[in-house]
Amino acid sequence: MPSAVSSLDPANQRAWEALYASTSRFIWGADAVGFLRPFLAPLRQAGWRRRRALDAATGEGRNLRVLLEVADEVKACDASPAALAKIPTDVAARITRVQCDLAHTSFADGEFDFILLSDTVETLPNLPEVLRELRRVLAPDGVLVCNVPEPEGDVAGVEMEPVDGTAFLYRGSYYFRFMREADFLAVLKGTGLVALRSEIQEWTEAAHPGFRDAEHRHRSRVFLLAPDQASAAPSGRGAGAS
Ligand SMILES: C[S@@+](CC[C@H](N)C(=O)[O-])C[C@H]1O[C@@H](n2cnc3c(N)ncnc32)[C@H](O)[C@@H]1O
Repeated sequence: MPSAVSSLDPANQRAWEALYASTSRFIWGADAVGFLRPFLAPLRQAGWRRRRALDAATGEGRNLRVLLEVADEVKACDASPAALAKIPTDVAARITRVQCDLAHTSFADGEFDFILLSDTVETLPNLPEVLRELRRVLAPDGVLVCNVPEPEGDVAGVEMEPVDGTAFLYRGSYYFRFMREADFLAVLKGTGLVALRSEIQEWTEAAHPGFRDAEHRHRSRVFLLAPDQASAAPSGRGAGAS
């Protein structure tokens, strides 16, 4: 039985699809999200490189050029066909695009050495299910990088209606939940993932056409996650989903 909040998922996915289809402009811009290069820099300096990467909920693919710098093979998935269609053609030619529901993907167990989940944790009504699924498709020695926006950024509280004790609907359509470190670590429990390290990152983004009208500041805690070696690896497509 889905919870009241996770039942918001289909409407949430439709809202993103309508947004991407509403304009030929990039909603998120052409540059990688502000935390990505600074967070990966120490890993790259240490010679870190990955064989198979997944940009989970890639949107219009603004982060794919960075993934192509650190991985041999890159897949990009999103629920929105309109978003996937907007990935620039030179990038699209070098990756594999997959329409997906992050809670139930078609990827194999342990398929990826590196998963990026950028600016998406806070937008998922069914976050625990998605994290369990990403754990399933992550290799035993793989890592997952994600950011978790904190309540202090410019975007929290603006045009947001509460939907329960902790979450909001932005402009009546888009689900958002802002979490502090302890909240996210509590969500992680039971997903089979553990945090190896985290740090606060702040950056500025330009307005997003049709979504956010002015330049704004982001503040997120960025996490490096890995499979919990103490927990048994889930197996089979969608295993572990409730
Ligand atoms: C705020 S956007 C972030 C896009 C991209 N990661 C970036 O950093 O530009 C959130 C994305 O999550 C996607 N999404 C939402 N729910 C999803 C689901 N259940 N499965 C796959 N993608 C989903 C939306 O279509 C949207 O592209």
